[in-house]
Amino acid sequence: MTYNFLEEFPLSRMRRSRLTPQIRNLVAENNLNINNLILPLFVCEGSNIKDEITNLPLVFRYSIDNLLKLLEQVVSLGINAIMLFPVIDDSKKDEIASEAINPNNLICRAIRAIKIAFPDIIIIADVALDPYNITGHDGIIDDRQLVLNDETIDILVKQSLIQSWAGCDFIAPSDMMDGRIIAIRKALDHNNLKNTSIISYSAKYASNFYGPFRDAVGSRSSLKGNKKNYQMDFANSDEALREIAMDIKEGADAIIVKPALPYLDIISRAKNSFPIPIFAYQVSGEHSMIYFAAKNNAFDFISSYYESLLSIKRAGARAIITYLAIDIAIFLKNNQ
Ligand code: PBG
Repeated sequence: MTYNFLEEFPLSRMRRSRLTPQIRNLVAENNLNINNLILPLFVCEGSNIKDEITNLPLVFRYSIDNLLKLLEQVVSLGINAIMLFPVIDDSKKDEIASEAINPNNLICRAIRAIKIAFPDIIIIADVALDPYNITGHDGIIDDRQLVLNDETIDILVKQSLIQSWAGCDFIAPSDMMDGRIIAIRKALDHNNLKNTSIISYSAKYASNFYGPFRDAVGSRSSLKGNKKNYQMDFANSDEALREIAMDIKEGADAIIVKPALPYLDIISRAKNSFPIPIFAYQVSGEHSMIYFAAKNNAFDFISSYYESLLSIKRAGARAIITYLAIDIAIFLKNNQ
């Protein structure tokens, strides 16, 4: 935006538009809406389980029965989209992530149960092998510990198909293999799953902020090395635009930038470069950072959380994946 006139005091007084809450709301350029929130959820085996997660306060692992109970509240609050992550028992993990392509695995059973009880909720299923792998990596590795690209894609395609058959609405590949979007799109179309959307984690960085998530799915202690040979180097931003451009060409319906708050520049560049919905993932470490600082009285929890979400919107995100979606939805209902 460019100005063709100069504003000058005292004719212009910026503070006039900040005078009352009503005026501030009237002129607000951005806002946060319940429709823009996506709630990530961790699902585990068993019944009546609600387990705390180390370093991810306020977030729990739920067995399917308890997840269904929680979803009643989620739906009644008006949250329309959830993202599911499975916590796989160690006994089912191996080097080729076999459980990832078992049509009766935990995630597929969860998807089916949720779709029966809540047919309208949008279910987003993650595609990556780390919850299923003894190595903790998103793909299968060679003897130099590098993730094999094309061999991994073959498994990801099967994983996408079984999750779509189970009834998920969106497939979200978070693995960062090259060429997986087109491979998945073709397989979905070939199997008459033309209405299954793909949200691609196009710009996913090799971030330290994923630590608590790895505690949640139990991949942290087993992770050998790091994920820098497939996830993006956080020194880069032009590269993110190349990743996004390729994924759009390969058939992505929306793209994700992840993490969110330390990567607002990437969200903003993506928004200005591509006419496609940009989603942002406020990751586990961002959540915990705000929680622990607020717990030590550095600032107020919910208002600083809200500020960080609104900043992500302002940068250009259409929707935000956030662990606090329920509390934020309640906050929005009470404050708007
Ligand atoms: C793995 C995956 C990760 C997250 C979502 N999917 C972790 C990783 O890449 O190691 C992180 C989400 C978070 O930290 O909240 N495919």
